Order: sequence, then structure tokens, then C-alpha cells
Amino acid sequence: MLSKAHIFLSGLILLTLSLFTLTARAEELDGKALVNDYCTACHEQTDGGDLTRISQVRKTPEGWDMTIFRMQHLHGLDIDENDRFAIIKYLSDERGLAPQEAAPFRYVLEQRAHFVDKAPNDDLDALCGRCHTNARYGLQRRTEDDWMKHMHFHVGQFPSLEYQARSRDRFWWQEVTTKTYKELTALYPFENADWDHWKTTPHKSPEGSWRVSGHRPGIGDYEGIMTVKKDGYYFKASYDLHNMDGTVLKGHSKAVVYTGYEWRGTGEMSDTETREVYAMSESGNQMQGRWHNAAHYDVGGEFKAVRIKNATPEILVKSSDYIRIGEDKIITLYGVGLSGKISADAGLDVKVTKQTPTSVSLKIAANKDMTKGVYKITMGQAETDVVVYDKISTVKVFPDWTIARLGGGQTAPVSAQFEAVAYMKGEMGDTKIGIMPAKWQAHPFNEEAERLNDVGFSGTINQQGTFMPASAGPNKERQYATNNAGNLKIVAEISDGDHKVTGEAQLIVTVQRWNLPPIR
Ligand code: HEC
Ligand code: HEC
Repeated sequence: MLSKAHIFLSGLILLTLSLFTLTARAEELDGKALVNDYCTACHEQTDGGDLTRISQVRKTPEGWDMTIFRMQHLHGLDIDENDRFAIIKYLSDERGLAPQEAAPFRYVLEQRAHFVDKAPNDDLDALCGRCHTNARYGLQRRTEDDWMKHMHFHVGQFPSLEYQARSRDRFWWQEVTTKTYKELTALYPFENADWDHWKTTPHKSPEGSWRVSGHRPGIGDYEGIMTVKKDGYYFKASYDLHNMDGTVLKGHSKAVVYTGYEWRGTGEMSDTETREVYAMSESGNQMQGRWHNAAHYDVGGEFKAVRIKNATPEILVKSSDYIRIGEDKIITLYGVGLSGKISADAGLDVKVTKQTPTSVSLKIAANKDMTKGVYKITMGQAETDVVVYDKISTVKVFPDWTIARLGGGQTAPVSAQFEAVAYMKGEMGDTKIGIMPAKWQAHPFNEEAERLNDVGFSGTINQQGTFMPASAGPNKERQYATNNAGNLKIVAEISDGDHKVTGEAQLIVTVQRWNLPPIR
């Protein structure tokens, strides 16, 4: 048992996101026949042609990936890599989740370093969320009978769960096999209208030209064009993007679309290897998600794409969100269908200096006697806001609380990215001005952190607001030769004319995560 558990865990460490690496032969493979070949040794075929367990569950591609990983590493399934991919593709298409079902939990699929996991209630958080994200089961649908079996699986596989912290106030097994499995069936039923609808709707192809916009925390917004072409089983995307400072961001990727909308790509952006997790909308006219550095899931970009053909006019991103009273500034708006006439709320003086259907540059003057506030700019059907401010009253750091992880050995560090958002006093409380450059510093969070010199040991923050943690492992220079963990106060200082305004966040620098399953 011990050695099996050991193999299982070390396997998990090596588990990469295999969903992204389908090989050429996979397209010729018949998923259904493969499931019959590989799975029926243990999963009995019933009269209707269903397979026990396999036909009673629906999940994401990542969910199927993890289950099959367990079949291999705990139950001895021996499977060829290409066959494995073809099975995941087939099962995700046949028994996946509808877009609406996956929507609340995309944060975990997108491999975000910072997210707040959502549990339906405190009981489920204690029963399930103490070992893995609540998203892990929120992204699954099962029959009542199968939710019950899954409870048995847990206690059979992890018997110590009855004795763990957050479990000692209850009898886990008794509770989950009398109450919780029914609650899970009501929350996450195998059959529902969303899936019935999605299963019978013809899915749209992502081929074509897309208008892209996005944000890279710590770096800023970007925009441009994505062109998608079909290539057998795959889709190939090429990106022609640029950052708001004008620098070029070029890349390409190769993707598989699971379940008709789950885009999983692998590629390169400015010479860095990337992974893409996007969801296509039901209309097939929008794609949204996140891409990240293949070796560092914590470093990446928000992504939104709008199909150019027949697009509704829309402003997607702009070179700046604000202007200070007394300044003039060129603000460029990027979007689709920007051909209409420009107008702005009374008081804001705007002149078009350059206009194409995808970008419009405006010279904006905020003269001294202007009233501060949020001014709307419209261009045909498309509209956006520009904030005219006089003085920054508050700075908030986002996220206001997060963690970073020390790196070492084969485990990459997990950085933390902060951004400073400025606010001004408005008639109805604080009004957001926007993200601004700041001077970043780390301080001890409390006296204990000061005494142990956490600031000196746990890592450094740069002037883009990126905290890079130090190496893991006992450190003889520290009291008790403790790890380089720390409890820090991150301070952002924005200069506004001659006054300075600061905002704060808390950062816990903690130890490595030893395994990185596709769904944490
Ligand atoms: C060597 C035996 C064996 C083979 C082969 C096997 N399984 Fe399993 N499978 C099991 C056992 C045992 C369980 C119950 C324990 C568990 O869930 O890990 C199970 C459970 C499952 C479940 C339900 C668990 C869940 O949490 O969703 C699914 C789905 C599943 N298997 C899929 C597959 C697929 C797909 C294949 C073929 C690619 C396969 N299995 C091949 C032994 C096997
Ligand atoms: C003791 C820790 C622990 C607790 C408590 C726990 N889980 Fe899990 N669960 C795990 C582990 C470990 C796995 C991963 C198994 C694997 O790698 O396939 C897992 C896997 C899962 C999966 C994915 C399985 C698959 O093959 O698709 C689901 C769904 C799940 N748990 C639901 C729940 C629910 C619902 C609860 C609460 C009623 C719960 N878990 C409580 C440890 C736990």
C-alpha cells in the first residue's frame, strides 16, 4: 500500500498537462472502440451498451485526464499515449460539461495562481474543500448512484480522512453516504437541460479572424488579431498582437477543441512556451480565458477574442482609462466596427486624430475648470468611459491577500503579482480611476515577521509588482534553520503630483506544492 501510494504521488508530480500534446496519429483513432478495448476489462458492459461507472459520469477534459491517470497508476491500466488522448477526446465530447456548467469554475481550469475557490456551503467546504478545490467536484456531474460510489471510493482510498483536521467534529463517511451524496446529486445532476441542449446543438468552428484583447498583470493590456485555421484534428492560431506601449507580441499555437468549446492550445508567445485555456461561447463568436507560461502557470494573460465577421461594434481595450484635470492626452481605443461618429459627454473635449475600423486615437483635453467624474465616449453603438480625476484619494492593491510559493529542486517557484489601483473621492463613495505604476516595497507584516527577518529571506518584489520567492529548504541562517517562508506586507506607493498615496496587501510566502494535478 505504502509503495503504491508513493508511486501514485510521484506520478502526480510528473503529470504534465497532457491534454495539450495530442500527437498526429490520434486523429485516426476511434475513441469509442478504444474505450471498449481498454476499459471493459474492469468496467462491465450493461445491456444498453453502457459501461459501469464510465457511462454515469460527465466531466471536463482535465477531469477525464485525471481519472484515467488514476486507472493507470492505481489500477494498473496500461495504455498507449495516443490511445489515451483519443479516449479523453471521445469521453469529453460524449460526456463533458455544457458551457454553463463549467462557467462558475473556470478559474481552476485556467490554472490561475490567485483565485478564491467557491463552495456551495460551509459543510461541503469542510467535507470536500479541505483536501482539494470545491471546483474539482463542481466540475463533475454524476448519477445519484455514482455520487454514492464516489463517496465510497474516497474513504476506501484515503481512510485517514476521518481523522484529519476539519473532520473531527463529524463522522465523514456517515454524513456523505446518508446526506451529502443526495445534495451533490441535486447540485450536480448527471442529466440536465443545459447538457441536453449542448449535446444536440451543432458546435461552431473557431476558424476565422478574431479581434483579441487582454491584460497581463504587472505588464498591462494588449490587443491585436488572431487568425485560426483548421489543420486536420487541430486548429492552428497565429497571433499578431501589441502591447499598449507599442511593443510587438507575436505568437502561434496549436489547439484541440474538446466538447465543442473547450480550446486547449500549446504554443509560443514572444519565444516563451505557452498553454491556452479558452472557452468558446455558444454563438461561436467569442472566446475567453487565459494563457500562461508553460513552465510557470502563475505568469500569463487574460484573453478575450471577438469574431470579426459580423461583429457588433465594441470597444475592447484602450491605451489609458483616465486623464488628470489640467492635462491633454492621446487615448487610443481598440475594438471592432469603430466606424461611427464620435461623441462624448458634455464637458469632455475630444478630437479624433486617427480612425480605422479597429482603432481610434483621440486627443483629449481635460481643462482646468472641468468637473471630475466618469465621462462616456460613444462611437456608433460602441461605448466606453474615461475617468477625469483631480486627486488620488486612495490606493488599493489587488489582490489584497494572496500567497506565493518557494521554489527549489524540480519545483518552480510560484510568484505573486500585484497591481495598484487608484481611486478618487466621488459623490457616492470612491470612484475607480485605474491601474497606475507604483513604487513597490515589502515590509514585515507583524512583529514576529520582523523578528525573523521575513523580508530579508522570503524573496524580492520588483517595480512591476511581481514578488519572486526565494528558494525552499531549511536555511541555517534563520532561527531554527527554518524554511524561507514569510508573512509580508506589500506596499504600493503612487505619486500624484507632489503627494504620495499608498495601498497595502498581505502576502504569505509558503512552501512548495508537491503535486500539480490538472484540477487542483
Ligand atoms: C484494471 C482495472 C481498470 C481498468 C482497465 C479501468 N478501470 Fe476505471 N476503475 C477501476 C476501479 C477499481 C474503479 C473504482 C475506484 C476508483 O474510482 O478509482 C474505477 C473507476 C472508474 C471511474 C469512476 C470513478 C470516477 O471518479 O469518476 C471511471 C469514470 C473510470 N474508472 C473510467 C475508466 C476508463 C475510461 C477506463 C479505460 C480507459 C478505465 N476506467 C479502465 C478499474 C479500472
Ligand atoms: C482526504 C482528502 C479528500 C477529501 C476529504 C475529499 N477528497 Fe475528493 N479527492 C481526493 C483526492 C486525493 C483525489 C484525487 C484522486 C485522483 O487523483 O484521481 C480526489 C478526487 C476527487 C474527484 C475527482 C475524481 C475523478 O476521478 O474524477 C472528485 C469529483 C472529488 N474528489 C469529490 C469530492 C467530494 C464531493 C468530496 C466531499 C464529499 C471530496 N472529494 C472529499 C481527496 C479528498
